[in-house]
Amino acid sequence: MKIVLKKKIRVRFQSPLSRLIPQNAQQRYEREKDYLLKLKNQVNVPEIISFEDEKKEIKMKRYNFTTLQSYLQNPSLENSIKEDYILQAVNVLKKIHDVEDRVHGDAYTNNFALDNEIMYALDFDNHRSHPNPKTLDLIMLCADSIYLSKFNLEEQRQLLEKVKERYGEIKPIKFALRDKAFYKLTFNSNSEFFDFFNKKT
Ligand SMILES: Nc1ncnc2c1ncn2[C@@H]1O[C@H](COP(=O)(O)OP(=O)(O)O)[C@@H](O)[C@H]1O
Ligand SMILES: [Mg+2]
Repeated sequence: MKIVLKKKIRVRFQSPLSRLIPQNAQQRYEREKDYLLKLKNQVNVPEIISFEDEKKEIKMKRYNFTTLQSYLQNPSLENSIKEDYILQAVNVLKKIHDVEDRVHGDAYTNNFALDNEIMYALDFDNHRSHPNPKTLDLIMLCADSIYLSKFNLEEQRQLLEKVKERYGEIKPIKFALRDKAFYKLTFNSNSEFFDFFNKKT
C-alpha cells in the first residue's frame, strides 16, 4: 500500500476575518487525530496507518485524489457534473455534522477530494470561532463552490435549493459585517447568497 505522511507545521498567516483560532502544531495534530479516529467508520476519511505522536505525523493510505477544487476550476467540465460533486461534498459534510455535532472547520473545496468517484473529507486540523459553526461550514463550501464554478444567479439558486434538500434544516446564521466582507472579498458572494443563509429554511 502506498502511504502519505502528513506532518504538522506552524500555521500560515490567516486573515483576521477568517475567524481561524490560531493553534500550535501540537493542538492541530491532536484535533486531526481525534477527528480521524472518531469519523473513520461513519464518514469517508482517509484510512489511517499510524499516528506518530512524538513527531506529530500521521501516516495514511495514499489515494488517487482529485480535489473538488480542481474539478470546479475545470472550464470544460459540465455544470451538472460540478453540481453533482458539490452535493456529494454536502452529503459528506452533513455526515460529519451528525457525528456528535462535529464541524469540519475548514470546509473549502480543496479539503474534499474524489477517488474512484467516492467523495472524501480531508484536513481536520483547523478550528474557527463562530456561534453557528455548522452553517459556517456549509457557507464555506457553497461560497467557494459557486465562485470556482462561475455559477450565475440562476445556477446559484438551483444549487442552493438542492443543498437544502440534501442537507435538511439549515440553522440560519446571523452574518456579522466582517463575515459579509470576508465572503464578498474572497468569493464575490452576492446578497442572494447571504439572504439564503440568513432566512429560516
Ligand atoms: N491520503 C491522501 N492520499 C492522497 N493525497 C492526499 C491524501 N491526503 C491529502 N492529500 C492531498 O494533499 C492535499 C493537502 O492535504 P490536507 O490534508 O488538506 O493538508 P493541508 O493541511 O496541508 O491543507 C489535499 O488537497 C490532497 O490533494
Ligand atoms: Mg487542506
